[in-house]
Amino acid sequence: MAKPISLEKILFSQGFGTRRYCSDLVYADLVKVNGVLAEDPEERIATEGLVLTVEDRDWEYHEKAYIAFNKPENYECSHKTTHHPSVYSLLPSPFVERGLQCVGRLDFDTTGLLLISDDGQFIHKMTTPKKNIGKVYEITTPEPITQSQIDHLLNGVVLDDDPKPCFAVACNQLTEYTLAMTIVEGRYHQVKRMMAAVGNHVAKLHRTEIGAYLMPTDLAEGEWRWLYPQDLQMLSKSVAA
Ligand code: URA
Repeated sequence: MAKPISLEKILFSQGFGTRRYCSDLVYADLVKVNGVLAEDPEERIATEGLVLTVEDRDWEYHEKAYIAFNKPENYECSHKTTHHPSVYSLLPSPFVERGLQCVGRLDFDTTGLLLISDDGQFIHKMTTPKKNIGKVYEITTPEPITQSQIDHLLNGVVLDDDPKPCFAVACNQLTEYTLAMTIVEGRYHQVKRMMAAVGNHVAKLHRTEIGAYLMPTDLAEGEWRWLYPQDLQMLSKSVAA
């Protein structure tokens, strides 16, 4: 069981502002602990199953944050964006305050499953090709997808910036113009470049799955949800397992 921590420290760790600001939130009667109005920012609180209410909004305590987000089109996965608004503008401000980062990036025009976390080890594990964690992309093309294009993707494609080929680890043709392709790397514009290299094109790109975790069907575009240990287990399943 984790050691109880002062309420002020807990609020700070969850991204509610500076220690001083967090303490002021308590003095202003804006914080509840498990539904009970808090009075003392120094009070030590057990974090297991803790639910804070801050300015009338409930917040589960999470020592590390793991978020699944359904990314809409026309948002960039960076803090300093160039042409489009940032995905971080769609997240609650405590997430940004506590330093959550995208786990790998999706292009501004790619939609679908995006993980966001402040756990560096998790981010590394999910993105390194060594862990063989599959990312499934649903690709819509303007030209019919041929068997020879699929064979080429599975046999390996050499992109212009690296002589080492990159492979689709699985391809499942869904319709004449749609393909579900699994890759374990995350090179720059990888899917788009792979499709171009085999003589087709990406008109639309949507990520549906990471590891064995599927985008929840009830997670609307622009919405997020917490991931729990059972979700993290699904995310960590490698292609080879
Ligand atoms: N590959 C791409 O080309 N774009 C993405 O957003 C993700 C993978």
